[in-house]
Amino acid sequence: MKRLYSIVFVLMIVLFSSCKNDKKELSPSLKEKENKEAISKIDPSYQQIGLDMAFTTKSQLGKNLMGTMKEKGAVAALEFCDIKAISLTDSMATFHKARIKRVSDKTRNPNNKANNTELKKIELFKRMLSNKEDIAPIVEINNDSILFYYPIITNVMCLKCHGTPNKEIDTKTFSTIKRLYPNDMAVGYSENQVRGVWSIQFKKE
Ligand code: HEC
Repeated sequence: MKRLYSIVFVLMIVLFSSCKNDKKELSPSLKEKENKEAISKIDPSYQQIGLDMAFTTKSQLGKNLMGTMKEKGAVAALEFCDIKAISLTDSMATFHKARIKRVSDKTRNPNNKANNTELKKIELFKRMLSNKEDIAPIVEINNDSILFYYPIITNVMCLKCHGTPNKEIDTKTFSTIKRLYPNDMAVGYSENQVRGVWSIQFKKE
């Protein structure tokens, strides 16, 4: 098992060194007091396990989304998201034997709405980001489970579907969003904002 973790760890270093932003997000220095206290009592490998789950799920979603965007454009990608995002996330959860959620305070799909605990984490990550603190995962123990939270931060790509309508989101894409998600709140974002949080629960080893 140790060996597996080190392989995962090395893989992640390789992955993250290709992206400046991610590298910054992963810095281990934790300034937020709450975060520090939570993590100091917990085996640091849980951070790695959670991050691994979040990033493999993210890359599954990203690969499928970007593939469809490139081949067929934003409207088709939207329709893909509508059908596939939650089922892809769930299948990654089955794969990892965990509960994996991608939730937000301003949802597109109301099924992705953050609960009160998750909302607090979103607020905390927003504060950390605006104070330019290094962002690290929040890991907590609840009986025999590990609760893991990590922010989902926007980049320029996201704005095609989460930016400002008729500016970054073109008219056709926006009308598709409105058709598929009449109660959409997930617009008006700019780059480097907290769009939501990965909320992952898995069994303590
Ligand atoms: C092609 C359009 C498109 C792009 C590009 C896109 N999204 Fe989304 N996003 C969607 C759709 C559609 C949903 C709703 C998915 C569903 O039904 O579960 C969604 C949902 C989400 C959710 C779940 C919460 C919610 O509001 O339902 C998060 C978090 C999210 N997107 C973040 C991002 C981030 C971060 C990026 C950029 C890295 C991004 N999205 C890029 C279309 C897009």
